[in-house]
Amino acid sequence: MPTTRTALVTGGNRGIGLAIAEGLAARGLRVLVASRDPREAAAAAAGIAGARGLQLDLEDPGSIAQALAQAGPVDVLVNNAGVCPEGRALEVPLATVRTAFEVHLFGPLALVRGLLPGMAARGYGRIVNLSSGWGAFAEGLSGPFAYSTSKAALNALTLACSHDLGADVKINSCCPGWVRTRMGGPGAPRTPEQGADTPVWLATLPADGPSGGFFRERQRIPW
Ligand SMILES: NC(=O)c1ccc[n+]([C@@H]2O[C@H](COP(=O)([O-])OP(=O)(O)OC[C@H]3O[C@@H](n4cnc5c(N)ncnc54)[C@H](OP(=O)(O)O)[C@@H]3O)[C@@H](O)[C@H]2O)c1
Repeated sequence: MPTTRTALVTGGNRGIGLAIAEGLAARGLRVLVASRDPREAAAAAAGIAGARGLQLDLEDPGSIAQALAQAGPVDVLVNNAGVCPEGRALEVPLATVRTAFEVHLFGPLALVRGLLPGMAARGYGRIVNLSSGWGAFAEGLSGPFAYSTSKAALNALTLACSHDLGADVKINSCCPGWVRTRMGGPGAPRTPEQGADTPVWLATLPADGPSGGFFRERQRIPW
């Protein structure tokens, strides 16, 4: 009988994260819908077959530790949660920059460190980091300062960690495109389901799939 994989999706209560959770459940995975508001986690999970809600605030190390303790074995980690505070390099408050780094770098790093040993021991793991073209040096780091620099750091995490993982565990970054969510706004051309396509693909890569890459629309793009 095939193994039922378990996926943890951060920021799974709405937007692209919810569409990723739905997409993974539709492919037969058991999904842990993580949200900083436990009621939103439970409400989102209630609408997805086999899913369970999990409280997880990436700015709170205690919440991360508790979520890791409650999650059980996780085979697929999707670091989807994000914040996009406005502000240019010389004016945005340092506290705002720190928050973006907690959500996009330190939180994901803690989750990777917490879940990787189990993935390695079970011989299977897929880690997907939701980044952005705004976090790409190749595209000029052209977004708001806290967002662009912390997404570039998340991309660095992806590439650096890929050197330390065995062949059974894959880690990749992706840009979902410009998507109609609270972050992307109503004028964005892509639906959350379209934005979820590449992350869901990366989360379910076969054994010969890529690792240590940056993707948009299932195609490799430059860092
Ligand atoms: N939309 C786009 O056009 C676009 C483009 C490129 C990249 N992305 C990336 O795609 C990902 C999803 O974006 P989206 O458009 O779906 O954004 P969204 O609708 O604004 O949703 C963001 C999610 O992140 C969660 N979150 C924020 N801070 C958190 C924290 N401290 N702890 C835990 N969860 C937290 C939010 O939870 P709450 O509901 O509690 O606030 C929400 O679930 C993000 O990483 C974003 O940077 C989006």
